[in-house]
Amino acid sequence: MQSLLGTVISTEQTPTTADYSFVLDEKSPVKKGQFVQTESEEGVIFGYVSEITCANRYFERAESVAEYERETPISTHFPIKSWEYAIAEVRVLGRMRKLGDKYIQSRVSLPPSPGTKVIEADEEMLRDFVGFVPNGILFGKLQNHEVEAKIDMTRLLQKHLAILAMSGAGKSHLSAVMLEELLDRPKEDGRVAMVIIDIHGEYAGFRQDPKYGKKIRVINGKDVCVPFRRLTSQMISSWVSVPPTGQRELEKVLREMKGEEKNERSLFSIKDLITRIEEEPMSNTIKGPLLRSIYELRNLRLISQSKEKPELRKNVSPGEMLVLDLSDLDDMRKKKVIVAYVADRLFRLRSKVQIPPTFLLVEEAHNFAPEFGKSEHNPDKRIIEKIAREGRKFGLALGMVSQRPVNLSTTALSQANTHILLRVTNPNDLKHIEESAEGIDSRMARSITSLNVGEAIMVGEAVRYPVFLEIRDRKSKKVEKGKPLHEQAIEYENSSRKTEEEEEEELEAFL
Ligand SMILES: Nc1ncnc2c1ncn2[C@@H]1O[C@H](COP(=O)(O)OP(=O)(O)OP(=O)(O)O)[C@@H](O)[C@H]1O
Ligand SMILES: [Mg+2]
Repeated sequence: MQSLLGTVISTEQTPTTADYSFVLDEKSPVKKGQFVQTESEEGVIFGYVSEITCANRYFERAESVAEYERETPISTHFPIKSWEYAIAEVRVLGRMRKLGDKYIQSRVSLPPSPGTKVIEADEEMLRDFVGFVPNGILFGKLQNHEVEAKIDMTRLLQKHLAILAMSGAGKSHLSAVMLEELLDRPKEDGRVAMVIIDIHGEYAGFRQDPKYGKKIRVINGKDVCVPFRRLTSQMISSWVSVPPTGQRELEKVLREMKGEEKNERSLFSIKDLITRIEEEPMSNTIKGPLLRSIYELRNLRLISQSKEKPELRKNVSPGEMLVLDLSDLDDMRKKKVIVAYVADRLFRLRSKVQIPPTFLLVEEAHNFAPEFGKSEHNPDKRIIEKIAREGRKFGLALGMVSQRPVNLSTTALSQANTHILLRVTNPNDLKHIEESAEGIDSRMARSITSLNVGEAIMVGEAVRYPVFLEIRDRKSKKVEKGKPLHEQAIEYENSSRKTEEEEEEELEAFL
């Protein structure tokens, strides 16, 4: 049974078909943002509480209050508590009618009459209204309601997802919750493969988890390997700066080497490429700069004669997760090249249906698809924007996680049809989010600054109406990174003291 919340009142402007207000019953647990329902002659009117105000006739006139309070508090003379009441303002969302096991939503043409009772929204109706589904991805619960937030996987992922918030607001936690759900998903519901670009090594903990470990493969950045035979001149020119004059020569040499590789089944390395260019007759003004760019490529320590690592065609499987842990790399250029290579391979493999539908989650996405930075110097940006534009057609979904939305490519961000927003306080980021997230109204935008850790707003394709969510706890093992400063300080001092003690012991033993 839904609890009774209050009674519709008549004010100068309300009730209308768009808004109404109700006075709260004593101890009524109404919260801002809560969904409520009332009745009109047409049927059930569904809405949400947009604001709650408190009033008391005793405190309406400033001069009387000031006068009384100068002597003794008003409460000593009058029963002020019994004159206090709260009014909730409701924004009407629609009229709801049940047809079979579904609800039909239509426009309201008659307002509720003053005096009508207001009750909590029916949970089944609420689920239907927001678009939660029984086999959806469980993020947590709908704020102010005991309703599980289960989001339809296709609507959430197919048209891409952006998870935006300031540092420490809970983006990685939320992503981990979502990945647990995708890993737990039964085959009959449709399972995607997951590929994670993990910058801080936060997802590697899944590997040690007793429940999920079997489904996880972690590859460290230093071990990533691109086989020489996969290299094309376009790839090389987008990864390192090949001078325009050297492009044709590079293409020629590579073509010859590939031909030999096919016919003679020999495997070449980057050293061979350098030797070939050195031997190739061409002017020194071309050869010198071209060789320099190939040295640059060699210094990335990414190309080898051996097999591709990770073997994307083999290692991307339904219901399993491949984590590229790039936390062991300092070289930003190398990280960008790895992301460019992996994302491009996934795009190609998926377009030929050689891998299952895949969800590519990119942490710190603003580094790999920066708003400011030309595509020709950012091969990763080019492919991420391409996946954002075209991936949905063949089941390559993109998830972008960022704490600097302003620096994230607007082309990529505008293709993300679902936004999950956690706490953000930077005004520039807020403005950017408001502009890029369709369906976010100013009420929600204002709330983003006051969200607590673990609270999120979901808006866009995944939900029929923007909602506030409370994100559930993680089930999987968490890798503790970034311990509090004082703990790091204590640890440091203890470990250095130990070495001093050890040294003394060593000396004593020696003597
Ligand atoms: N819903 C939640 N329930 C419990 N703890 C949470 C929740 N969300 C976040 N936390 C905790 O808050 C801390 C910060 O979360 P998290 O690492 O996910 O933030 P972040 O937004 O990814 O930060 P950064 O931008 O620095 O990567 C973590 O210790 C995490 O466990
Ligand atoms: Mg994070």
